[in-house]
Amino acid sequence: MYQPSETLRLQEATRQLLSQPVITPQQIPLLRDVLRFHEYRYYILNDPLLADPEFDALFSTLVKLEKEDPSCITADSPTQRVAKGLTASFPTVTHMVPMLSLDNSYNAEDLRDFDRKARELSGLDTIEYCVEPKFDGAGISIIFEDDRFIRGATRGDGIEGEDITINLKQIRSIPLTAKFSAYGIKQVEIRGEVMMTKESFRRYNNQLVAQNLPPLANPRNAAAGALRLKDPNEVAKRSLEAFLYHVSDVITVNGQHSPAVLHTHAGTLDLLWELGLRSPYKEKKRCANIDEVIRYCQEYEQKRDDLPYEIDGMVVKVNDIALHDKLGMTTHHPRWAIAYKFKARQATSRLRNVEFQVGRTGSVTPVAKIEPVAIGGVTVASVSLHNEDFIRERDIRIGDQVLVERAGDVIPYIVKALTDVRTGTEQPIAFPKNCPACQDELVRPQEEAVWRCINLNCPAQVVERIIHFTSKDAMDIRGLGEANIRKFVELGFLHDIPGIYQLPYEKIRQLEGFGERSIQNLHDAIEKSKTQPLHRLMNAMGIRYVGETTAKALANHVEYLLEYASKEKEDLLTIEDVGVKVAESIYQFFHNPDTIQMLQHLESLGVNLRNIRQQATSEGSLNGLTFLFTGTLSLLKRSEAEGLVEQNGGKILGGVSTKLNYLIVGEDAGSKLEKARKIGTIRILSEQEFLDLIPKK
Ligand code: IVH
Repeated sequence: MYQPSETLRLQEATRQLLSQPVITPQQIPLLRDVLRFHEYRYYILNDPLLADPEFDALFSTLVKLEKEDPSCITADSPTQRVAKGLTASFPTVTHMVPMLSLDNSYNAEDLRDFDRKARELSGLDTIEYCVEPKFDGAGISIIFEDDRFIRGATRGDGIEGEDITINLKQIRSIPLTAKFSAYGIKQVEIRGEVMMTKESFRRYNNQLVAQNLPPLANPRNAAAGALRLKDPNEVAKRSLEAFLYHVSDVITVNGQHSPAVLHTHAGTLDLLWELGLRSPYKEKKRCANIDEVIRYCQEYEQKRDDLPYEIDGMVVKVNDIALHDKLGMTTHHPRWAIAYKFKARQATSRLRNVEFQVGRTGSVTPVAKIEPVAIGGVTVASVSLHNEDFIRERDIRIGDQVLVERAGDVIPYIVKALTDVRTGTEQPIAFPKNCPACQDELVRPQEEAVWRCINLNCPAQVVERIIHFTSKDAMDIRGLGEANIRKFVELGFLHDIPGIYQLPYEKIRQLEGFGERSIQNLHDAIEKSKTQPLHRLMNAMGIRYVGETTAKALANHVEYLLEYASKEKEDLLTIEDVGVKVAESIYQFFHNPDTIQMLQHLESLGVNLRNIRQQATSEGSLNGLTFLFTGTLSLLKRSEAEGLVEQNGGKILGGVSTKLNYLIVGEDAGSKLEKARKIGTIRILSEQEFLDLIPKK
């Protein structure tokens, strides 16, 4: 796409633009080229040449320049992905060419059959194929006209789909412009698949769970759902990606012949890649005959779990496009392509009974115990049923045959009960009235889907809170682990979160399975967690509705965790991603004396409650922070010290108040120091510690 010389030129221009104090309106076209280039490096090649904040800085500059002179905005400016407002509805559009489905094959024999038929129909001895992954996402069709992305649609019924152009513009792997004209192409319709990576899906589901919403079954549903969201800004947050794998129609300039590269499927994928579209150009393989096809399909199946996204098979396509017309199609599928489906990740089983588990927030989750069944190499015996509504909506009963799905590394999920094969002996699932762990009465708050145990000391909740605290995305204390936590709680070695930092190692040493080495590892892992960054602790506390993303925003907002004890709901609402419900939950959490006591206890045990930013790295690194000096300074004059604060974007305050972030103390500091200590949220630094915050020139 970009020749080496072009890459050098744009990288040089990037450095130039970044080093300029101001970027002028005359440089807007260059700035756009530079941003498009870096989007390509990031989203298509996965090989960025720029740090995220640098990209963001250039991007905001373009937004600013365009705002100053809106007449210079072009439809293909990188800023034009950003949408304002909500979409009322998605108009129906007709695809230029119907979107057909693919015939399926499941083994080598099916593939040989397909090849035999294709050879018979074409009269050829051997056929060359091009094989690529079958992406498990949501099908889309996009149109480029005069080098611009002008329309994108869902598959719909194959003939008509919904116009989701505005949402597809949020996907950075779909460029807004591509130089099709260089190949004599005026208009082109391209097919592809929108995907959510396994990692983004996991994160998204964690957020849903943090909000007590049932998680989605698989990344495909998540991607399809995201494409139909009414708010394009929400779409942008879902980290979607697109693979483009088929050109369904081409209109050339002045009715010329379509370019030679489009005469083979492999050539088509190369062209798309060359023009900056993410095609499976690297993943594809040209195979001289069906034996090679079979080998590649089987080989690729082994790699399935190592890929960052879900694929459910391979697609085998006749490479010569002229043969496509010759072979033609049935009413559902082309005869020149076939899907090779990997082993199913669904299976049927029988629901034996339902157990009720109490989560860390007291929510009671029904868990289906099914007859163990192997799905994609893993035996599944327990499947979450999420909540009462989930069960009622699907009318799931004890004794039912159920269809279970396990997508990749995702938790198993009951797709449906097979109601047609009921015998009449199936029993409705009865929800308990009392907590299965502490017997307290359960409540179902209005507008909530879950029943809750509201006894904060319920032993089941305590265990779950500790498990969450130590988990990978929270304090990441490996070696403690769920089984040990349950054991330690049962044995009375552990009662609450601070207890993690006061484990009775002498007693643990006497347990079976705990050698000197494992005790040392456990101790080291726990000690190490004390210096985890603040956002991890924020997540670890398990505040309702606060998942990993909100935890980061919250941690970034303060210098010291206990500042939240004095924040009002209005302050909380100014934080990114925090709405009324979340603000209320955070407010309640930090205004609960038990919480504060627990956090103070953690701090006294050495756990970090402060925001250790990468200070002193750039100019303005004290931006938004407030300072006050007290006592006699020995390294600097007072005026010099205050000057340093101001030069780096900080502010000097007149006295000690809750607004103060840092008090710098020299010798003989008096009442100010005392007052700051009382407030508790002010960071107290020595003169040297203050100097360490200042960037070295
Ligand atoms: S080609 C006319 N290639 O699978 C043939 N489809 O089950 C056009 N899919 O509707 C389809 N990966 O949404 C093709 N590499 C790939 C694919 C792919 C996923 C989807 C597509 C299609 C469905 C058929």
